[in-house]
Amino acid sequence: MNTIYITGGRPLAGTLAVQGSKNAVLPILAATAAIPGRFVLTNCPSIRDVAVTQALLEGLGLAVRFAEGLMTVDSRGSIRAAPDPTLAGKLRSSVLLLGALLARLGQAEISLPGGCVLGERPLDLHLTGLEQLGVRVRCEEGRLLCQGKPTGGTVILPYPSVGATENLLLAALGASGPVRLIGAAQEPEIRDLAAFLNGCGARITGAGTPCLRIEPAPLHGTVHRVLPDRMEAATWLCAAAATGGALTLTNLLPDQLRPVLDVLRSAGCEITESKQGLTLRAGPLRAPGTVITGPHPAFPTDAQAPMMAALLRANGVTLFQETVFSDRFRHVPALRALGAQIEVRGDLARVRGVCALHGAELSATDLRGGAAMVIAALSAHGESVIHEAWHLDRGYGNFIERLQQLGAEITAQ
Ligand code: UD1
Repeated sequence: MNTIYITGGRPLAGTLAVQGSKNAVLPILAATAAIPGRFVLTNCPSIRDVAVTQALLEGLGLAVRFAEGLMTVDSRGSIRAAPDPTLAGKLRSSVLLLGALLARLGQAEISLPGGCVLGERPLDLHLTGLEQLGVRVRCEEGRLLCQGKPTGGTVILPYPSVGATENLLLAALGASGPVRLIGAAQEPEIRDLAAFLNGCGARITGAGTPCLRIEPAPLHGTVHRVLPDRMEAATWLCAAAATGGALTLTNLLPDQLRPVLDVLRSAGCEITESKQGLTLRAGPLRAPGTVITGPHPAFPTDAQAPMMAALLRANGVTLFQETVFSDRFRHVPALRALGAQIEVRGDLARVRGVCALHGAELSATDLRGGAAMVIAALSAHGESVIHEAWHLDRGYGNFIERLQQLGAEITAQ
């Protein structure tokens, strides 16, 4: 979709099933290139990042089919070591193919990945870690050339990068001896990747803690249900909170959303959890204090922009501190255009709640920033237009239809 049209002011109400997790399925799909086998993934989200990854895998020689949440991958044939540069450049997570291809082939060649514009997103932790596993890494004209089967050993990550942890976990699958990753990321998506890989016969322990251990083991295909998407769930909850709505979500794991639920509760939302799902009821909101993003289990950076949008009309001042990415307040000028009062200084954004927002013409800057603009526009009086809406297709399936189901006045072209 290119442009979204919203007439704001209607509370969202109803029930939604959360889709499978983007950030879980992307490394799992990369992993299918590491292991010759047949894989069946259920609860797979129908989003653009998955479509691009499917095309990348097909370009390598894997057979992939995807329909209605079910993805099958056959990677038993011979595969290539160099993913298509144009496709790889579209997606940050394409860099995970490095670890996967090194594990299987002992070589990989990839163009430097894009996929987002969140300031500088270096790969030093990925590459230093691979070098510590005995891989030779060179960069030539925007392409990374990696050679050598990984050896066993210990890698210490100075920062718990999600992508570096995943890349090293994948490379370690092909290592000649045990690998220890110290300082690993602890995100639920890492646990899901490890669960998938252990289903393939891998011997990984410690996933979800900072210390991972990977022992060499014979690997094969498997069947796996992808984790529900905690960031999508956070987006829907923030939209319901912003509009004073009442929303029930199914297919989610509330424990993985704890920091987001805590902020919403402090803002005055009533949240009840049951076996069937989770229900949020919102009235007038109050500022919940300070929201500090950080690696799991802290408040997730991906929910920062949607939460900011939810709190634009909350009574009082909310302070956001973004500690994960250096340039993740790109949505702020658009929120200001809708009437929000936000001051940004370095990694801090100070939001003073206003009585009302009004419609405006905006441009999405990135996936979660775009979602924040939609949330704010849904809670504003009048009409808004959001250009560059394709950013949202990267991570949300049937976005417009699902919001319409909840009563939003929203269309797209
Ligand atoms: C993943 C998620 C993204 C989420 C982020 C943090 C996927 C596909 N994307 O991104 O949605 O916002 O985790 O939870 O899962 N860094 C370095 N050097 C490196 C690698 C990272 O300095 O080699 C820095 C980054 O610039 C950033 C921070 O570490 O400031 C976190 O990045 P990282 O955890 O690696 O995020 P991604 O894996 O890119």
